[in-house]
Amino acid sequence: MSCFLILQTPITYDALMKMDCLEMAINESMRLLPTAPRLERVCKKTVELNGVTIPKDTLVGIPTYVLCPFCALPQFFSLHPECKSEMNQYAFMPFGLGPRNCIGMRFAQMIMKLLVVKLLQNFSMETCKETQVGTFHQYIVH
Ligand code: HEM
Repeated sequence: MSCFLILQTPITYDALMKMDCLEMAINESMRLLPTAPRLERVCKKTVELNGVTIPKDTLVGIPTYVLCPFCALPQFFSLHPECKSEMNQYAFMPFGLGPRNCIGMRFAQMIMKLLVVKLLQNFSMETCKETQVGTFHQYIVH
């Protein structure tokens, strides 16, 4: 990525797709602060899951906000994107999952990468005295 920052070159789609570290950083942001903190599904027929009966027409809330920070494997986000298959896909679903997942996922991922690259090409960033440095868990405890 650094050559793009120095040369101020136009960014191509292929170049963005190769920015694995940037993708990991974006994933980590979405893991800690998911844009959609809760997904919902309506149960089409009565089912029993692990001893719990969910009647037909029940609105089931899926708390991704809770699942992401606490259940996802922290080491996943330090792995290369090719290793994603090792992770339980239900532990990290910033764009939902299944037939009604986000249709704009790939577009959104590309734009988020492009935005960060453009920001870094045009500005230099540094922390200030108000910058909070710490873990997500510290923030929610306070
Ligand atoms: C960071 C950006 C975005 C995030 C985090 C996000 C997240 C989500 C989530 C969590 C859902 C619900 C999925 C589910 O219930 O399983 C969703 C649905 C949807 N998203 Fe996104 N989204 C993003 C950007 C976009 C963009 C850019 C578009 C369109 C260009 C888009 C279009 C849609 C549509 C149409 C649905 C409804 C799909 C359906 O009900 O079948 N999203 N999105």
